[in-house]
Amino acid sequence: MSQNMSEVKAVILVGGEGTRLRPLTSSVPKPMVPVLNKPFLQHVFKHLSNHGIRDIILALCYLPDNIQSYFGDGSDFGINLTYVVEDFPLGTAGAVKNVSQYIDSTFLVLNGDVYTDLDLTSMVAFHKEKGAKATIALTPVEDPSAYGVVDADADGRVKRFIEKPKREEAPSNMINAGTYVLEPDVLAHVEPQKFCMFERFLFPLLLETGQAVYAYPSDAYWIDIGTPDNYAKINLDLLSGETQADDSVDVHSSAKITGPVLFGSNCVVEADVVIEGPVVIGSGCIIKSGSFVRRAIIWPDTHLDSWTTIKDCVVGMGCRIEANACVVDGTVLGSDVVIGDSCHLSGGVRIDCGKSIDPDTTLKR
Ligand code: GDD
Ligand code: MG
Repeated sequence: MSQNMSEVKAVILVGGEGTRLRPLTSSVPKPMVPVLNKPFLQHVFKHLSNHGIRDIILALCYLPDNIQSYFGDGSDFGINLTYVVEDFPLGTAGAVKNVSQYIDSTFLVLNGDVYTDLDLTSMVAFHKEKGAKATIALTPVEDPSAYGVVDADADGRVKRFIEKPKREEAPSNMINAGTYVLEPDVLAHVEPQKFCMFERFLFPLLLETGQAVYAYPSDAYWIDIGTPDNYAKINLDLLSGETQADDSVDVHSSAKITGPVLFGSNCVVEADVVIEGPVVIGSGCIIKSGSFVRRAIIWPDTHLDSWTTIKDCVVGMGCRIEANACVVDGTVLGSDVVIGDSCHLSGGVRIDCGKSIDPDTTLKR
């Protein structure tokens, strides 16, 4: 029996403050960090609506101001959004229980810090075909120790679920990708308003009680955006094709731009600037003469003075990089940072929002 995807609702889990993404998440909540100049969640919504899923419930630990003001009821984005905020963090399964009044048939749960192009339509069809109570998407990773490892038999039936195993004890490198198809009755095992996790309680319980839990392995694109490296990676991975700039972007004829580069509106690129993609530049950025930018993500309203070098790094909103400064090699700048002239920052240094670094300073982690 095939499932009409427009009847499948999706619950997105949005908890935590994204501490590992600091200083980027000091000024913008994790679900709203810009990916290709749009909030991260917008990409997740797009993926869901591409599969015909329009009813989306955000299960939130707290409601960061700008999520609701940006997305509203979702109608501008072709979706129907419901927000439910917990009084205290309920854990992944507790958070879903907390929205169960909106759920009446087979539904999806997505970890809100993961981006994937997983074929959701096929996954739901697989779930139905197997008559599963729960189907867990799996993805291969190099080091499974930071994730939930799922051990399944040849038919896809899950045998074991081991959350965050030691690397040498992980039975495989196939991990819980943070996308589940569930039947509503699995929530009967979760007590309302009590902390409960799928990974440590509900999935193991379903296995113990002999219920049909299936794994859906796939090699679809998959990334957890929880670290600055992965945050940079998703931007650079999703960026493709030619340079994109609208008419409001003013590029000097002597500037050399090799794509893919994405410009937000109202950017200015002065003479002799060199930009080598993949690079994402937010709206209102000014790049002064002779500067060099390669493999970087720059948030809106940042100014690069003349002869700066910005390479392999993330620069927050409203920063100012003064002349001849060099910001390279995994450096992450929060918003409203000032880097004095001729500074050299490298080796994954992170600078908190609002900090100023004196001219001629060298910082390395
Ligand atoms: N609403 C709500 N309430 N959301 C929560 C809560 C909560 O109390 N706790 C966690 N979440 C959300 C997080 O914001 C995130 O989107 C998702 O649930 C998963 O939680 P993480 O804290 O990011 O877990 P993790 O990354 O360590 O591990 C999870 O994801 C891995 C894949 O990225 C587990 O599901 C692993 O098994 C999995 O491999
Ligand atoms: Mg996570």
